[in-house]
Amino acid sequence: MVDISLLLRDNIKKLVPYASARDEFSGSAHIFLDANENSLGSPISPAFNRYPDPHQQKIKERLTQIKGLPPQNIFLGNGSDECIDLLYRAFCNPGKDNVIIHPPTYGMYEVSAHIHDVEVRRALLTDEFELDLPAIEGLVDEKTKIIWICSPNNPTGNAFNARDIEMILNNFDGLVVIDEAYINFSRQPSFIRELIEYPNLVVLQTFSKAWGLAGLRMGMAFASEFIIDVMNRIKPPYNIGQPTQSLVLEALRETDAVNEMIRKIVHMRNELAEKLSQISSVLCVYPSESNFLLVKIREARHVYEMLLNSGIVVRDRSSAPGCTDCLRITIGTQEQNEKLLTTLSSIGIS
Ligand SMILES: Cc1ncc(COP(=O)(O)O)c(C=O)c1O
Repeated sequence: MVDISLLLRDNIKKLVPYASARDEFSGSAHIFLDANENSLGSPISPAFNRYPDPHQQKIKERLTQIKGLPPQNIFLGNGSDECIDLLYRAFCNPGKDNVIIHPPTYGMYEVSAHIHDVEVRRALLTDEFELDLPAIEGLVDEKTKIIWICSPNNPTGNAFNARDIEMILNNFDGLVVIDEAYINFSRQPSFIRELIEYPNLVVLQTFSKAWGLAGLRMGMAFASEFIIDVMNRIKPPYNIGQPTQSLVLEALRETDAVNEMIRKIVHMRNELAEKLSQISSVLCVYPSESNFLLVKIREARHVYEMLLNSGIVVRDRSSAPGCTDCLRITIGTQEQNEKLLTTLSSIGIS
């Protein structure tokens, strides 16, 4: 069994966390003179003069019902990007430790490593966009603290072979972080079910994709009580604002509407993939378990610019390893997808 406490940075082990006013008081009171807020109210309505719940209890209680995990296994961050940042802060010694990523993949694992002065080791995905287990094994040493796995992966769109991920979980003694930002669009089940078995597993999810709440900024980390406790101790005390907490709670009552959006997006994704593959300049539409498609197309840069001239912005991923001439296209509305298809068909490439 992996002892996660051995992975922690020494300064974090010794840290005495900040105790906020709302941490120190529990019970019932109706006059709050403890946090230097503005007791007169706000200039706007509804009033936001009080600090928000630092532990986001109500949201965690609702997530417990949905995810089947108790609140002490749930961390909420200002986007999953905050969760990524906090995992570096807690576990990676700047200038000493390293992490492993699998390009082409989500860029923040690397950017955040650079911010924290942590070495990034790259085990490129195979030609089939799967994890390269021998390459990973060759990169791991005693200073490897985190293996980042994005599944379904951005920008390739596929979910990795679950047995490969399990192989890593079974053989690596550092943290394995599985970023499931796109899991709701996938047939693969979440790795949340494996948390009981693996104390070194962290699963990230977000409200930015299937939930349609990218503007609110809320990400989730699911992990052992120990890891979640560490993340709570080092986070900024009031990391999630009151409007975000209230609106996410409202959205959590609308699971039927979210499931309906997911169903529609998956349907449109499959339809768009089929139609794109019939366009002569399209060389490959990669299988996707997400809300976007990676498309290999002749003269991708030129196509990107022509689309832009028509007011359609997609992402040119051509410079990412294994993605030469690839555009990443988010699934739009039915109307937007049709406009994309007619514009692409009209671009004169043989
Ligand atoms: C794989 C992956 N993880 C995380 C994020 C960021 O999520 P959030 O909006 O919760 O910070 C993205 C955003 O595109 C992503 O693609």
